[in-house]
Amino acid sequence: MRKNLLTFSGLFSLLMLGSCTTEPDPKLASVKHALEVTRTQLTHLAAEFDSLPGFPRSLSPKYKVVEARDWTSGFFPGTLWEAYRLTGDEHLRAEAEKFTSRLEGIQYYKGTHDLGFMVYCSYGQQLRTLHDSHSAEVIVEAANSLISRCDSTVGLIRSWDFGDWNYPVIIDNMMNLEMLFWASKQTGDPKYRDIAIRHADRTLQNHFREDGSSYHVVSYNDDGTVESRGTFQGYSDTSAWARGQAWGLYGYTMCYRETGEERYLEQARRIASFIMNHPRTPEDLIPYWDYDAPEIPDAPRDASAAAVISSALFELSTLVPEAEGRRYYDRAERMLLTLSTEAYLAGVGTNGGFLLMHSVGHLPAHSEVDTPINYADYYYLEAIERYLSLRGVAPAQL
Ligand code: GLY
Repeated sequence: MRKNLLTFSGLFSLLMLGSCTTEPDPKLASVKHALEVTRTQLTHLAAEFDSLPGFPRSLSPKYKVVEARDWTSGFFPGTLWEAYRLTGDEHLRAEAEKFTSRLEGIQYYKGTHDLGFMVYCSYGQQLRTLHDSHSAEVIVEAANSLISRCDSTVGLIRSWDFGDWNYPVIIDNMMNLEMLFWASKQTGDPKYRDIAIRHADRTLQNHFREDGSSYHVVSYNDDGTVESRGTFQGYSDTSAWARGQAWGLYGYTMCYRETGEERYLEQARRIASFIMNHPRTPEDLIPYWDYDAPEIPDAPRDASAAAVISSALFELSTLVPEAEGRRYYDRAERMLLTLSTEAYLAGVGTNGGFLLMHSVGHLPAHSEVDTPINYADYYYLEAIERYLSLRGVAPAQL
């Protein structure tokens, strides 16, 4: 698996050597510009929130300020950690530590499956940067809280405690499993990983359609049979909500990385194929908020889905044979570079300090439509980190 990464990186290093003597690489120039924007924008956004008790979530049109229990609370701290690693700016590191510490108490919260997003995207990024024992302790505790939501008969982690469903599980929940895989490696206790695998298998069984797309919400009866299949944030129960497809792609790619189980790789491939061959994908490859939105081609785009897909495809490109990997890599690169143009990347001093414009939170609820959103920025910077790593380019070389 690593071989592919080295192959790409070796190939690109050679190309880089060639280009050093000629023109600067325009793709890397685009990334360099994005990081300059990142540094200024996030410095501004962190200053805006210095004296506020929460986290920036979106701008529609005023800041949506959220507390630690919001599902998106971990993304801004995580984005600051990514930005620190990419820019080396010590001020951003101090801000990252400050905003991460605001989430300290959330490790004990058992009211949502989103604990993976909240803790692994904040303390997880802090751990990745500082290798500190405190972050590790917080994440293990959060993993304990998360598995408390798994009913042993149903065999999945319950997503939400609201609504009329008996036991709702959403495709997004695949993202929260990464923290469980990590917790088993950290503690040596297989229980977290076992729950993650059971969840991924049950989701594989019940969330997907013939064409590789997924339902958003599958609810279960107490005996583990399916109660209903439908949507909450998508256009309809049978439509393909764009971010849901992105979460599935990222989730099964990650599950394959963590387990080596072919069935997860096959599922990631099926989702990638659905996304990459979809006839209603616009020319610039940034998906509409739902692949079945009736107002296409005038439907809003979702830059957050694009950022998640780009990051996931970069990883998937390293886990498959080379020719196939090249297709995923090319698509991920094109999406990343499109997001880095002025059509999606904010100009300095605009967009309230967020990086990307044009995401959609919850269109059926008329909430956060065509707005910057913190998770779009988080996965955008993650995609940049993966891209540079695959190219064998250190950020300081840009
Ligand atoms: N996890 C909720 C969303 O993607 O909007």
